[in-house]
Amino acid sequence: MANIESVLQENRVFPPSEEFVKKATISGMAAYEALAKEAEQDFEGFWGRLAREHILWHKPFSQVLNESNHPFYKWFEDGQLNASYNCLDRHLKTQPKKVAIIFEADDGSVTKITYEQLYHRVCQFANGLKKLGIKKGDRVLIYLPMAIEAVIAMQACARIGAIHSVVFGGFSAKSVQERIVDAGAVAVITADGQMRSGKEIPLKPAVDEAFAMGGCDAVKHVVLYKRTGSPIHVHAPRDVWWDDVVRDEPDVCEPEWVSAEHPLFILYTSGSTGKPKGVQHSTGGYVLHSILTMKWTFDIKPTDVFWCTADVGWVTGHTYISYGPLACGATEVMFEGVPTYPDAGRFWHMIQEHKVSIFYTAPTAIRSLIKLGADLPKKYNLSSLRLLGTVGEPINPEAWMWYHRVVGNERCPIVDTWWQTETGAHMITPLPGVVPTKPGSCTLPLPGIMAAVVDETGGDVEKGKGGFLVIKRPWPSMIRTIWGDPERFKNSYYPAELGGKYYLAGDGANRDLDGYFWIVGRIDDVLNVSGHRLGTMEIESALVANPLVAEAAVVGKPHDIKGEAVVAFVVLKGARPAGDAAKEVAKTLRDWVGQEIGPIAKPDEIRFGENLPKTRSGKIMRRLLRSIAKGEEIKQDVSTLENPHILDQLKEAVK
Ligand code: WT7
Repeated sequence: MANIESVLQENRVFPPSEEFVKKATISGMAAYEALAKEAEQDFEGFWGRLAREHILWHKPFSQVLNESNHPFYKWFEDGQLNASYNCLDRHLKTQPKKVAIIFEADDGSVTKITYEQLYHRVCQFANGLKKLGIKKGDRVLIYLPMAIEAVIAMQACARIGAIHSVVFGGFSAKSVQERIVDAGAVAVITADGQMRSGKEIPLKPAVDEAFAMGGCDAVKHVVLYKRTGSPIHVHAPRDVWWDDVVRDEPDVCEPEWVSAEHPLFILYTSGSTGKPKGVQHSTGGYVLHSILTMKWTFDIKPTDVFWCTADVGWVTGHTYISYGPLACGATEVMFEGVPTYPDAGRFWHMIQEHKVSIFYTAPTAIRSLIKLGADLPKKYNLSSLRLLGTVGEPINPEAWMWYHRVVGNERCPIVDTWWQTETGAHMITPLPGVVPTKPGSCTLPLPGIMAAVVDETGGDVEKGKGGFLVIKRPWPSMIRTIWGDPERFKNSYYPAELGGKYYLAGDGANRDLDGYFWIVGRIDDVLNVSGHRLGTMEIESALVANPLVAEAAVVGKPHDIKGEAVVAFVVLKGARPAGDAAKEVAKTLRDWVGQEIGPIAKPDEIRFGENLPKTRSGKIMRRLLRSIAKGEEIKQDVSTLENPHILDQLKEAVK
């Protein structure tokens, strides 16, 4: 609560400039209110109208929303469409020569691809996939670096009705194997390797390792995109090079028309158990919301150059690289590298060179760039910028102010977009030509999004008080289910405790007296490290899977750059290590977690104890561990602890 109140002391307000408002797609508060009112008065009419206006339907839908099987909602179900058709074919007559993607590689080389070229490459690859026997409904795992080919692979799957599941290139072999098994993938699309800060990181070897772990027999094909040219093991006939897959294939491919409810993709994300959740999205509702938010939140115009810095392995990259910008016929920048290579001016240099007008990045990137060069943006010409955005975690007001002043030159509205893998697209965000912004607040819900803050019984809390963030009505781009686990979907997002009626986001939030939303952070055992979601249970299971470890508990701790850092409390099977031995074991365990999940999950600190503090009923006292991790004075009652001296042991962090 102290946390909530401190953010509410923020009282700076930044209204959009008159000039911005005048040109904005949704212009002025009255326009926003009219849309919100339309949604309230005729919910289905509102969404139906938008779906008809923004999507090209092969067969129109007759029913907007079917709520009969709560919470497994169906939107536009008897309508038929194709996501790739909506992103590519629709521009062929109107703007075939417009650049769709400006791709900048790690080494600075630039490749541009027009809508027409992208269309043909997607069609060719789609035909290649069909020739391999991949068909509608099949799951295809994509494990690629940031490359135009990643977008082509996703679009080609969508074109033939195959369901893609993209795994972030930073995830480990083990994560790849788990996702192949859970999704029942029949094919994998990967690359030899990827380039980051001038260094090569192998990808294909991780896929080989995943296969060696077993359970991947359903995979009949591995398609290999050559990125680095390093030697890799090609296991013929299973493994085939991308170029051989597309060779001699026609460059047109009739799209597979699917129901609006046909799954477009599965994307795995962390929850509060050890097993990641396969978030399943639909085609129609998802495409609709990606288009709407490009137009509403990003105010996308034909002349804009849009840049979302996320990786396609996260939902942000799906919605705001692979689908949304293309469906709107925008020109977008895509970047292979990292913001700090060759130096911390890389983003600013790229904005200058490509004349980026809309820039969308994460608070963690902003914080690290402030640290590495708060004045650096001033050395570049950033006058092309007209709108800035953030996503992934609450942005601290100081970082917001710097973004506003130094990057936006006090001209550009900032859209702080709150959403989740499960929501598919933005939910609560300022509309840039409407809502006066406050640093650190994601402000107001989009029209049609019935967001609220409630208490543990599901009742609305008064403005100015904190509670659980919920969405009271379904929305078109929402998660449909957890792949293969509908019960978990229901229990995680529509828990009986809250009456089972509202979508529970898993975030704590507060509304101020103006009705603005302030996100406080997760209410479950989920961490947000550099904008990436990590389950504490997942890291704990990874740790205890190591033969040295008897028991482990993982908590988060505030971190200047990353937002949250991972702290692991570990009990070894042998004696508690000290000195250099402790350092060595800590390194072994960190590397182990890197292999089990991926480098982003490596604990910053490991604290060894002979035991973990537990309640009488044997539950680990996580709140106490969080206090210890933060170095706080311990105020909790520890009188029931069996051996209080372990608290002293746990105060010692091995880095
Ligand atoms: C969680 C979702 C949505 C794409 C990136 C992350 C946090 C996200 C904000 C924001 C405060 C935010 C929430 C949310 N979050 N955006 N603008 N302000 N918090 O997707 O991995 O599914 O994580 O990220 O805690 O629940 P994700």
